[in-house]
Amino acid sequence: MDSILIRGGVRLSGRVVVSGAKNAALPAIAAALLTDDEVTISGVPALDDVDTMCELLGNLGVAVSAAPGRIRLRASDAAARPAPYDLVRRMRASFLVAGPLLARFGAARMPMPGGCAIGSRPINLHLKVFTAMGADLATGNGYIEAVAPSTGLRGARVYLDYPSVGATENAMMVGALANGTTVIENAAQEPEVVDLANLLSAMGARVRGAGTGVIKIDGAAELHGAAHTIVPDRIEAGTYMAAAAITGGDVVIDNVVPEHLAAAISKLREAGAAIETQGSSLRVRSSGEIQPLDVKTMPYPGFPTDLQAQFMAILSIARGTSIITETVFENRFMHVDELNRMGARIKIDGRSAVVEGVEALSGAPVRATDLRAGAALVVAALVSRGETEIFGVSHIDRGYESIERKLGALGALIERRADAPEFVVAGAS
Ligand code: UD1
Repeated sequence: MDSILIRGGVRLSGRVVVSGAKNAALPAIAAALLTDDEVTISGVPALDDVDTMCELLGNLGVAVSAAPGRIRLRASDAAARPAPYDLVRRMRASFLVAGPLLARFGAARMPMPGGCAIGSRPINLHLKVFTAMGADLATGNGYIEAVAPSTGLRGARVYLDYPSVGATENAMMVGALANGTTVIENAAQEPEVVDLANLLSAMGARVRGAGTGVIKIDGAAELHGAAHTIVPDRIEAGTYMAAAAITGGDVVIDNVVPEHLAAAISKLREAGAAIETQGSSLRVRSSGEIQPLDVKTMPYPGFPTDLQAQFMAILSIARGTSIITETVFENRFMHVDELNRMGARIKIDGRSAVVEGVEALSGAPVRATDLRAGAALVVAALVSRGETEIFGVSHIDRGYESIERKLGALGALIERRADAPEFVVAGAS
């Protein structure tokens, strides 16, 4: 089992290049199921979640060939087999193959999804979309089966009770092969939804309104192959912004779309960092003195839940008390106990965390409990006195490409240790 060792106290400086977005790559890979032709996706990050999605498609009969940064997928021999529990359990986003399987083969049999243990994460909205388009649902033995009518799925008007990213993406993919027009109301507006819409359009679908609350898709009888480059990862970028700010650093972050980061930029400025944007680069300079903030997570364009934990790490050393309110997921405060073990003073009060800034954090052995919680521990460790050893690195590897190499190039004292012992005394080297 790997761990990551960080000796805190170095001001980060230099440049870091952001990878393609995990959350855009996963639906793009699933979308390859919609056609017989080859789909080529570039700008793909080397991440465990991407490997899991490719393995899942491989299991469904898709020919997958991966080279660094690029994946070619051909689903001409794919079939609507039940998705294996072992793969789906690893990652909630595996449910993104349900829409394409249903649309292309008329049936999808999926285990109930897994993924990070944050909140109950139901799939009722995905299922609402499938039934609105005429599918019959049956559940049993931990599986859900959706079956299309013999006449095919029909376009429908569906209101999402919450602008779920995954349900919007599944609805777009199903709508792309349905008879007639599908209208998604209260659709998610995340940049990754827009990226998927661009891929579907390149495959011959007609998608309008992606990036707004109403998306319309005219179904096509069939889709064709396409080549697509995915958008930069705004959450990875935001994590490096947080790392620069907490260490009092001066870091240029390349391959970003600054408007995708508007909420994070605005909040970091409020916290005292200087941020300049130029084209697809962004420079963060900080004195290391952090002002307290109130942060509330919201669907895009609000403050992203996927940056909540990293911002909590920064605010744990702010000059005052901050309130962080999590509205997107229940139970997404699992990093609080670990940050407190590093000397933070954070109390949870329902859906809010009250973060009383402390003068300094101290290194400790800590455990990543989910992907972004792991990122928060890395951010906190960079400024902690002494050494931090982070266990549960497999969570971090789901979403951060070469994190130790990228932070190391910015000057961080960070290394990965293979076969780490379970416990290491804080401060030991
Ligand atoms: C995606 C992202 C994830 C991010 C999240 C919110 C991917 C692969 N993952 O996850 O990193 O944290 O968006 O920005 O893109 N919900 C329901 N019913 C449903 C679906 C969702 O109630 O059928 C609820 C969820 O429990 C949660 C909220 O809606 O409370 C947001 O979930 P959703 O937007 O669907 O997130 P994901 O697509 O799973």
